[in-house]
Amino acid sequence: MALYQKGIVAEANRSALFLTLNQTRNEGAKQRVKQVLANVTAIEEKYNQLEPEAELCLVAAIGSSYWSQIIDAEAPAELTAFPSFENGENVAPNTPVDLLFHIRSERKDLNFQLARELCAELGDAVQVVEEVDGFRYFDMRDFTGFVDGTENPQGDDRIGVAVVGDEDPAFTGGSYIHLQRYIHNMDFWNKQPVKKQEETYGRTKEDNVEFASTDKALTAHTKRTSLKDSDGNAIEILRHSMPYGDTQACGLLFASYCRTPKNFTLMLKSMVEGDGKGHTDHLLKYTRAVTGQAFFAPSRSFLENINK
Ligand code: HEM
Repeated sequence: MALYQKGIVAEANRSALFLTLNQTRNEGAKQRVKQVLANVTAIEEKYNQLEPEAELCLVAAIGSSYWSQIIDAEAPAELTAFPSFENGENVAPNTPVDLLFHIRSERKDLNFQLARELCAELGDAVQVVEEVDGFRYFDMRDFTGFVDGTENPQGDDRIGVAVVGDEDPAFTGGSYIHLQRYIHNMDFWNKQPVKKQEETYGRTKEDNVEFASTDKALTAHTKRTSLKDSDGNAIEILRHSMPYGDTQACGLLFASYCRTPKNFTLMLKSMVEGDGKGHTDHLLKYTRAVTGQAFFAPSRSFLENINK
């Protein structure tokens, strides 16, 4: 398998910067973007040599609709636009962008420094769309107060879930990424009794214990996202989501990495549209997606040779 960008599977960090950008029409912009993409693995290595204890990762990813503009060769087999869904108040919009740099480490100052360096290198070849500064909240809790990431795949399973294998030989070592920025309605959430909050997730709040499957409401978040295929195998994604925001507006920058975009799409559909019997994800009563983007993060060697 081609070597994957290490941030695809690396363990969670304290701090993450999600930088989304669009290429401009300025002269030489496309070439400049390619030069920077060819250089990202070297930049990541430079920071890791300078500050090894910071465990910095830089994942560079190309937007679904931008791929054909910047890469002359074929696209990854399953790369398609973000799957938007709408069901009354429940929405999941598609807001495409060209590029993602997902920078994360134990140190916000390093993330910032690296983002500045990338932006300086890119110059007027890009315009920043969003710069979302995520941070660990207590013991990896979402702002709703529940621990997020517990059921993520562990150990080598992270590679099996998140990294493309032999099924798409030209793109082994890559990963399909989906991003959604959610804004929480904290006032409404905080008015709910803890019991109702726990039913909304299907887990306990303080000590993070999963409800027995039979005790979970069909509208619980972990019920709607815990899916199986027709052979009974778990359908999984690797989540690298982070809380972001300030005292006035806050939420979750949701990030899914997977070897196929199908898994995320099935989960999102199950949340927004429900099971066809009116059981949608009740977490969506308290939070709303305002962005949605699909990317592919190619292998290290694909990026290094992008100019050749
Ligand atoms: C589980 C929070 C959106 C997929 C969880 C858990 C929390 C959580 C607290 C339980 C602990 C854990 O296993 O991590 C949130 C919040 C969201 C959000 C606050 C949005 C604001 C999404 C979306 C998806 C998703 C959009 C996929 C489309 C999952 C999966 C699990 C999970 C697969 C594990 C289910 C299980 O096996 O028990 N989420 N989540 N989440 N979430 Fe989300």
